[in-house]
Amino acid sequence: MIGVVLLFTAFTLLYVYLKWTFSYWDRKGFPSAGVNIPFGVLDSVWQKKQCYGRAIQDLYNSTKGPVVGMYLTLRPALLIRDAHLAHDMLVKNFASFHDRGVYVDEENDPMSAGIFQMEGAGWKNLRAKMTPSFTSGKLKAMFETSNSVGDKLLAHLRKELEQSGTKEVDMKSVMGTYAIDIIASTIFGLDVDSFADPQNEFIEISRRINRNTSKDIIRSIALVLYPAMEKFFVRIGWKQEGIEMMRKLTNRIVDLRENNNIVRKDMLQLLLQLRNQGNTSTDDSVWSAESAKHGVKSMSKDLIAGQLFVFYGAGHETTASGISFTLYELTQNPEALAKAQEDVLQAIEQHGGLTYDALSAMKYLDACVMETTRKYPALPILNRVCTQDFSVPDSNLVIKKGTPIVISLMGLHRDAEHFPDPLSYQPERFLEGNYNQAAYMGFGDGPRHCIGARMGKLNVKLALAKILSNFDLEVRKEKQEIEFALHGLTLLPKAGVPVRLSLKK
Ligand code: HEM
Repeated sequence: MIGVVLLFTAFTLLYVYLKWTFSYWDRKGFPSAGVNIPFGVLDSVWQKKQCYGRAIQDLYNSTKGPVVGMYLTLRPALLIRDAHLAHDMLVKNFASFHDRGVYVDEENDPMSAGIFQMEGAGWKNLRAKMTPSFTSGKLKAMFETSNSVGDKLLAHLRKELEQSGTKEVDMKSVMGTYAIDIIASTIFGLDVDSFADPQNEFIEISRRINRNTSKDIIRSIALVLYPAMEKFFVRIGWKQEGIEMMRKLTNRIVDLRENNNIVRKDMLQLLLQLRNQGNTSTDDSVWSAESAKHGVKSMSKDLIAGQLFVFYGAGHETTASGISFTLYELTQNPEALAKAQEDVLQAIEQHGGLTYDALSAMKYLDACVMETTRKYPALPILNRVCTQDFSVPDSNLVIKKGTPIVISLMGLHRDAEHFPDPLSYQPERFLEGNYNQAAYMGFGDGPRHCIGARMGKLNVKLALAKILSNFDLEVRKEKQEIEFALHGLTLLPKAGVPVRLSLKK
């Protein structure tokens, strides 16, 4: 009998708790949608029908009004549907929305304290110190390294085509390898060729980080939606193998450089300047990181590893999908393909080769990259947490401090109101400016926009220019939209991204 009473009480309490939780937006007077207990708007993700970004896009498409309350499982969050409101929140009202609200614990877990996760004054300070590492002067100085990775990509593709002179290539896989090597060399300073040696240490680490086991899924949900739970996992010593391997690798490289006074032109070197000198040199020709005051280190090795881990996470899939989706779209749009090819060849001729300046001069290719990041935003959502109460303009609604806000880039970028005929691939939009500028956020917006945007675009353009100037791309007979994978927070293709290449005649 007691058992029945206890069970009944437990069910009643659970029912009351769920009803209370899932009535949050009604109680606050906000319109809401997607109230599916217990997964909320993520119900279709749980049922393996949609990925995270598409589930939020569905909510964007099926609702109206500037803001819509939703539930990310048990967490109430607010979808910002209005492009101008979203833009203002990220730019003008940054003081109320400066943090992402994801897991970070600098004191006990420095690997978590990457610039992407950091909050408040700590983030502001780090961002100011890291900004000089991403100037065009620094990128130009690193160009030789990126270019040699581009040459390895070319050598690999030529070998693939060696026998028949033409082949359908899975760009998702090839560009994944290119992006890994770009990061390994320009960020970590490793001399790798993953095309020739696909079992190297960096590739192994990357494989472990990108596994999709239930353990990994639990950790990524905790990281984004339940930071306190992630803190608990870390405290009880539940380590993530890939991250731990990356921490050890970074520590090893830092020791090697510091003990042997090795100077290389890469991101790690600039972080070593920060560690040893307190800032990054603004002189693009100075790369030495010798200690100004011996023994004083302003950044621990693990904190450096945390930054490199973020650069890896933020730069890998984004670069790979930027290139593969662009190539795929060009094969479906012969006019755009011809213009892109002409743009590349002309700039190469004008600058006497595929140099940094030649790449900068490729304006049509720039527009292609913008159009790709519009139609396929690598991060399909932007998120912030409200850091001080905020009144929604022209309403009596108040967003309370602590509320997560979500902006659906897939929703905004594929909305005909902002981008006419949104599924058609038109790089010209970005040359002619005939779109709603507030609605484009492929690299984010405001003071917290992508710090690596210039580097990302450069590496995407480099691979595109190498391919367009060395191969012919076969135009697809029938247009077909890419299907997206059901897992992950980034927008990934479900199967490969097939593109047929032929050696230029
Ligand atoms: C085509 C390539 C890339 C795309 C499309 C892209 C896109 C984005 C987006 C949408 C955000 C979120 C911005 C926001 O919340 O407002 C972001 C943030 C960030 N990205 Fe990128 N990214 C790319 C390449 C890179 C690369 C190569 C790096 C580093 C080497 C990088 C480093 C970062 C960092 C550190 C942040 C967080 C900035 C902060 O919180 O202060 N990204 N990126």
